[in-house]
Amino acid sequence: MTGHRIVVAGAVLDRDRLLLAQRRYPPDLAGLWELPGGKVEAGESPADALRRELREELGVTIAVGAALRESVALTGDLTLVALRARIECGTPHPAEHEALRWVDAPGLRLMHDSGRLVPADNVWVPELLGDLGG
Ligand code: CDP
Repeated sequence: MTGHRIVVAGAVLDRDRLLLAQRRYPPDLAGLWELPGGKVEAGESPADALRRELREELGVTIAVGAALRESVALTGDLTLVALRARIECGTPHPAEHEALRWVDAPGLRLMHDSGRLVPADNVWVPELLGDLGG
């Protein structure tokens, strides 16, 4: 079997706002905005991996909630999933990203419509707009 891997992203929600993070790499994604996350390691659940990634990347402790409906097949045997999350402890700071931004529903729609999200993450926008009351 080839190495099928899961990438988990966090839909970090705080009332009517969602946290977006601006990628620094690779060059074709640099400057675009994503739900922060990373690859699930051996022996981890997706929720474990998201807790680890957001501690490393943002310096926050999270509570993990329900998955978003859609998953995305990426290149190289990677499947991307998203889990809702809420910050339990800490204020997010970008350790690995260029910048962070909280967006409300109109802000998310604008990021989507102007092509500023990483391509794979566009699939979650309708469901996230629902969460944000938009
Ligand atoms: O840091 P790590 O290698 O664990 O993960 P990553 O580089 O952040 O993400 C692995 C792959 O998932 C890359 O191809 C990312 O572009 C993709 N990804 C994505 O499309 N959308 C996200 N919200 C997070 C990751």
